[in-house]
Amino acid sequence: MEILRHAVLLVHLSGFAILFGAWVVEAVRRTGAVTALMNWGLLIAGVAGLALAAPWGVPEGVEFNYAKIGTKLVILLIIGALLGIGTARTKRNGSAPAGVFWAIGILTFVNAAIATLWR
Ligand code: HEM
Repeated sequence: MEILRHAVLLVHLSGFAILFGAWVVEAVRRTGAVTALMNWGLLIAGVAGLALAAPWGVPEGVEFNYAKIGTKLVILLIIGALLGIGTARTKRNGSAPAGVFWAIGILTFVNAAIATLWR
């Protein structure tokens, strides 16, 4: 079970990499566009994250930090809403509002920071 949990964590991290990587590409190109890859990355990270939020495949006595997991879930939902707005605006104008675009990247980075720094 522990190896399966690690495999799900690998999927979770791949989703994060797809979301953040796709965002960095658009930031460096200065398009300000929200792309389909960002939506896929969030979906993959979200589904795998929910699977990891349940206490399975962990050694006996390991405590789960549900405040941290809940915070990450709230931030993920906000990123999802911003991606929805950004996708619609990109279809119409070719780019998302700058505030929406930057919030997506910053909040994704904040969630990765919470995941790794909040112990
Ligand atoms: C954009 C959204 C997200 C990002 C960038 C992200 C990032 C990460 C990263 C970098 C890790 C590895 C940290 C470590 O193992 O020390 C991690 C682990 C984890 N994430 Fe996320 N995450 C996101 C969303 C979520 C959501 C929505 C949930 C649950 C509702 C979640 C639950 C977890 C759990 C439980 C772990 C620990 C896995 C373990 O140690 O077994 N994540 N996340």
